[in-house]
Amino acid sequence: MEVILAKTAGFCFGVKRAMDMAGEQVGKEHIYTFGPIIHNEEVVEDLKQKGIGVIHSLKEAADVPPGTIIIRSHGIDKKTYTKLLELGWNIIDATCPFVKKIHRIVEEESGQGTQIVIIGNEHHPEVEGIMGWCKTPPVVIDTDEKAFHFDKKNVKKLCIVSQTTFNYKKFQDLVEIITKKGYDIVVRNTICNATEDRQTEARALAQKADAMIVIGGKNSSNTQKLFEICKEECENTYYIQTLRDLDLNKFSCAGCVGITAGASTPNNIIQEVHTNVRI
Ligand code: F3S
Repeated sequence: MEVILAKTAGFCFGVKRAMDMAGEQVGKEHIYTFGPIIHNEEVVEDLKQKGIGVIHSLKEAADVPPGTIIIRSHGIDKKTYTKLLELGWNIIDATCPFVKKIHRIVEEESGQGTQIVIIGNEHHPEVEGIMGWCKTPPVVIDTDEKAFHFDKKNVKKLCIVSQTTFNYKKFQDLVEIITKKGYDIVVRNTICNATEDRQTEARALAQKADAMIVIGGKNSSNTQKLFEICKEECENTYYIQTLRDLDLNKFSCAGCVGITAGASTPNNIIQEVHTNVRI
């Protein structure tokens, strides 16, 4: 049996970097992450066992003696960042460099009087963080309707950026609607390809595999999406959370088994599945 593990399975560059930065703090005292480091309860619990707790808000950060706090890959807004420093926290900034770049763009452009438009979901922590680096109030757009209704009097110049995980096609459509309104526009495509690359590789792998395993949390929407893509190409696609969910008998006749995993699936879970499918 041939078993092929997708190169893009699991953590993207930014999340892996943040996890590594947290890992370097194991064994030290008073270490926390600002919000759960990834959407995976086992990982958060494991870090807790290793002495790295979670602080959920500025209020909580003010209520405990300051130590070291790790900013997760989504990043945070400037006010929160400054407040943490004022409270005496030592910050380890694990904001993904691709997100950090957006912070710099919006801070600089808004400082020059340009209106910032963020294409993304205003309730997503990454977008909330980006909004907080703008020197003037930004506008957040994620639907055609909002783009059609966008109308800023007295604004001449716009700078459009995107949430890193936004769909590229939809981004283009929304930019097109806004462009027709006649503003002087700078478009900075800040979409990160990690999600798309993972989906493209999963589809290609599912096309040649006899069976496909997709690993990820039950509530992970990006894993669900990966599963749908693989199922379209390969009828024998299985969605599992860990090795425990896998019925190995299903693979006894398969010549080629493909494995991929969602963005918050830890490497040890992927490796465990990879090793055991072969047996
Ligand atoms: Fe990951 Fe950074 Fe892209 S966190 S999805 S590599 S923007």
